[in-house]
Amino acid sequence: MISKTIKLLNLNSEEKEKAMSDLKKICESCFVCELSKTRDRVVFGSGNIHSKIVLIGEAPGAEEDASGMPFVGRAGKFLTQIMEKAGFDRKKDLYIINTVKCRPPQNRVPTDFEKNCCEDYLLSQLAIINPKVIILCGATACQTFFDSTFWKKNKISNLRGEFFENQGIQYVPIFHPSYLLRQHSEDENAPRSLTIKDFANIKNYVKNLNTSL
Ligand code: URA
Repeated sequence: MISKTIKLLNLNSEEKEKAMSDLKKICESCFVCELSKTRDRVVFGSGNIHSKIVLIGEAPGAEEDASGMPFVGRAGKFLTQIMEKAGFDRKKDLYIINTVKCRPPQNRVPTDFEKNCCEDYLLSQLAIINPKVIILCGATACQTFFDSTFWKKNKISNLRGEFFENQGIQYVPIFHPSYLLRQHSEDENAPRSLTIKDFANIKNYVKNLNTSL
């Protein structure tokens, strides 16, 4: 089901930090696609590169483009609240990145070409971090990792919260916070509550691995 292979690296803390900072410099001077012409800032990632969990979103929006930080706009603030309800500290417990590192104009969905241009950065970030869980936040992140036939046959509402293993990594699709902002119900089985449960399950999974987050 998961169609991407990550060339996972086994780096110590110091090597990880050096590799990430070198990759960030390269990414910040990328001019491969048209998004580089309209961006203000490259949004490389934020959080803890030593954690076992990585969350992958779609692409930066206006506030992310202005600040250089992922998920800090309206949807990002809502995602942070959801994570906090499940006991996550977003600075400490995970590393947050996007499929595409530069803002698509008018927040349109990134094209396949733009996603392909950014894929080496994305896979290199994952290789360096070597996570145990990858949270696929929304359709764009899911499309990047799931086999296309499988993805076309399924909906995110069927897949969310499930764990899909590849190379010893659990891939967990979740609803995107932009969708959750349009779903107002706080009922137990409504998307907002289900997403809090998904984060809680992920936290529990990592805790039971006997490694620190
Ligand atoms: N902000 C991000 O950084 N990524 C998204 O996918 C949405 C908002």
